[in-house]
Amino acid sequence: MQNKPRRLSKLATLPFFVAFTLSSSIASANLEQEMQTTLEEQGLDYKTLLEQHRTERQSFRQELRQVRRTRPIDHNLLASLRDQERDLLQSHRAEIDLLKRLQQRDLSEIRLALRRSAGTGEEPEPEHEFNALLELVNGAELTDENGIPVGGEAGIAVFGNRMDVEVAIGGITSAGDVSSIELTNCSTGEVFLQLPPSELLGEVVIGPDIPPQIPDVNVGPLAPTPEFSLVKLNLPFSNSMLAALENGNMCAPVVLASHEESHPEGALTGNFIDHLRFEALEYILDPSLLPEPRVVDRQFNTLGTVSELIVKDQYALEKLGKAFFWDTQVGSDNKVACASCHSLAGVDWRTKNQLAEGEGNYEVTASDFPLSTVLGSQGVQNAEFVEVNPNQPGEDVCNDLSGDFRQVTGRQAPSVVNAAFNTFQFWDGRAHRFFNGENPLGPVDTNAGVYKVNGSGYVEKNTNILIDYSSLASQAVGPFESHVEMTCGPVDRSRFFPQLAMKLLNSNVKPLGLQKVHSEDSLLGGMANGTAGLNTSYESMIKKAFKDEYWDSATPISLQHPVTNQWEDYSMMEANFAFIFGLAVQAYERTLLSGESKFDKFARGEGDLSEIEKEGFNRFLSGGTGCNECHDGPMFSTATLQFTLVEPIEAMRLANSDDNGLYDSGYYNVGVRATEEDLGRGRQDLPGPIALSSQSNAGIDTLWPNLPMVSAEEGKASVKGHMKVPTLRNIELTAPYFHNGKYLTLEDVVAFYTRGGDFPLNEDLDPDMKPLGQLLGKPERQAKIAAWMRTLTDERVRYRSAPFDGPELPLPNGHKMENGQIVDDIVIMEATGKDGSVEAFATFFERVGGTIPEIPEDD
Ligand code: HEC
Ligand code: HEC
Repeated sequence: MQNKPRRLSKLATLPFFVAFTLSSSIASANLEQEMQTTLEEQGLDYKTLLEQHRTERQSFRQELRQVRRTRPIDHNLLASLRDQERDLLQSHRAEIDLLKRLQQRDLSEIRLALRRSAGTGEEPEPEHEFNALLELVNGAELTDENGIPVGGEAGIAVFGNRMDVEVAIGGITSAGDVSSIELTNCSTGEVFLQLPPSELLGEVVIGPDIPPQIPDVNVGPLAPTPEFSLVKLNLPFSNSMLAALENGNMCAPVVLASHEESHPEGALTGNFIDHLRFEALEYILDPSLLPEPRVVDRQFNTLGTVSELIVKDQYALEKLGKAFFWDTQVGSDNKVACASCHSLAGVDWRTKNQLAEGEGNYEVTASDFPLSTVLGSQGVQNAEFVEVNPNQPGEDVCNDLSGDFRQVTGRQAPSVVNAAFNTFQFWDGRAHRFFNGENPLGPVDTNAGVYKVNGSGYVEKNTNILIDYSSLASQAVGPFESHVEMTCGPVDRSRFFPQLAMKLLNSNVKPLGLQKVHSEDSLLGGMANGTAGLNTSYESMIKKAFKDEYWDSATPISLQHPVTNQWEDYSMMEANFAFIFGLAVQAYERTLLSGESKFDKFARGEGDLSEIEKEGFNRFLSGGTGCNECHDGPMFSTATLQFTLVEPIEAMRLANSDDNGLYDSGYYNVGVRATEEDLGRGRQDLPGPIALSSQSNAGIDTLWPNLPMVSAEEGKASVKGHMKVPTLRNIELTAPYFHNGKYLTLEDVVAFYTRGGDFPLNEDLDPDMKPLGQLLGKPERQAKIAAWMRTLTDERVRYRSAPFDGPELPLPNGHKMENGQIVDDIVIMEATGKDGSVEAFATFFERVGGTIPEIPEDD
């Protein structure tokens, strides 16, 4: 069930991107459209299509053979036939792909219908595509062939004149395991459907493994882990069935299945799994979904994994990354670490001097919401970089430029927790999936690379490698170069990476030297020094983590400073420091995965949700709210590798346009602000467009493997104001919401969606942004969705226990006057160890006096 394509109803208007990834030469919209029509008109199923192809190929081969046998051989004809054969094969492949997609689309529509029907039993939304009748008959009788009842669920969902019988039973792995399905009219006994195995046409969707401890289902001894599977049938729905359904005379389907293997003693008996839990399985956070970073060349050929080619000791690498991430010495003024803006639940809790515009040092309170400006994160003061302090560990030498207060970023800091799943990082996704070893730009920067000692002992810069699945590394080398976030300026890159290396590799600098480290820190505890810092050096940590060929050479490397253009000599470790820093921080951040929320436990059958939370989840899933069109999968975000690797770009008709728009999966304009205030993915101030859709329009195929090429006539990139779909995990702890921090409560956010967003006329607005009938005027329903979102909190995150523990962190929270001088108002976050803190550190929401509204009653 993973990787199911989303938003498919929209895709129907232009469904060919993926099908033609490999054969863009024949990908014209018309051809594709023709193909689709033909396939649909012929109502071909998969097998028949394959059969047809086989016949076609056979007759073609015969012709070829004929030509080969004829003497003298006509080489021109032969060559042309070979070309034709290639084209034929190519178009066959395309047809199969397309059919698969069309069928998947049907399935996904069925699923949508099912979701709605399993919902709260209300009228279908008028705009719903399958609006005829949606009904689920529950309480099906599920037995195995010996008549022993088994756990599971069956129901039917009707859409238009077709219906689907959906069966979910532990242990089914193929349609053949189901021996029959019966549907009857309970009052007349009329048999509507009695399918023997040979007629089971449905597709079997095998669910993820779930642990056997499902309290509702498990009565007997624990059976081997059951797999929960679906047999879906897409069958015609007759008028008499319709009547039975309408009159309440439709019996629940009776299903006979054989699955002796998984339940030898019929261990699972009795109750049915609740439908919601089945849905919840798709959202379980499974760390194995996270692909391992790998090394590729600039043509995207895989050379090996990072652990094979670069890393000496993964655990040492994670430790190094954690030290870098929390170390305030990374900031020019020794007061700003990565963690400073990502300290609690991966976000920033600070309340003073956080506004990007307006009065400096302003202290935000609950009554300031909704905000009319951006709530960002304070970084460093405006200053000019002179040099790294040459004598001793200490702040960089910088000239104060102006301004009393620390500068503030123009967007909210999103959470680093679970960020490993994002394909790209930042709200606009500018930190690239492919790490180039030096900066966030990925493959765009063709000069970026990594120094390596080659076989003959010489140091070479290799610019022909990229590290895939590494947007976190691309991201990690960004803030360091920002003159707002961490570094003296006056412009970005005034201090460049090898200079940071000079500072941190100075033998007098201790990692985390200005901070206490908890002796029970989950990664650093063993190295914690009693008073402060670690009892080791960055140099030694790097040598443990990275293979020797990335640092072990005495040859000086001459580098040109990107801003001053001066040449200077650096050691190999210094020259590779961005590469080292990026990969280490990424390795640490990849450990920050939060899969232990109340919701996860519910999904795994280890706990329950309240009725209110369940209704909220149901509404979140329902087609009427459309929330999970964008907030889907284990991260509740489609901006994740799981989705974008399958379908990097998509097309649909946007809300305020008559043409098809092309956009990047996982990025949408939902109308939080006027589009021109922040162009997001559509920004135009970087070297080249960052949106894949714009690259596709421009014919740029060097930045994403096999990016489908779509001309602007076929689908024009419409990505202005598009922002990354953020994860909803731990959302309770990460207020305020949206890229600008506009809203304080989750209820405010749901109300925002209920009214269709705040800027319904935005250019490139997503068409889902329209008032939601199901929620309009129903604050109780809205509040239940918010209540459900609060089940996504992993308590380890709240209490900062492993892996979310960290060293002590002194944080500038705005400024105060001291002896007539403006100084930092420092708040200290105490270090926590693997067991976390007893009391939770107060979140932004709590600090500004936020309160969760009571659940009101709907009229
Ligand atoms: C001054 C505050 C500040 C500092 C310091 C800072 N960040 Fe951030 N971080 C932000 C902001 C603001 C954003 C969002 C920027 C944007 O989208 O344009 C962000 C975005 C991110 C993201 C992207 C998450 C996502 O879902 O897109 C990650 C990961 C991250 N930072 C990690 C780091 C690391 C690693 C460091 C240290 C090298 C760091 N940050 C330093 C403020 C900060
Ligand atoms: C069309 C895609 C789409 C749909 C549909 C959608 N969202 Fe979102 N959601 C987004 C995007 C994009 C953002 C970030 C927008 C921004 O900051 O500009 C977001 C932000 C959020 C946030 C704030 C997260 C944060 O960290 O700031 C919450 C909460 C949320 N959505 C919940 C929901 C709920 C509940 C629904 C259904 C009622 C929903 N979303 C429907 C795309 C969508």
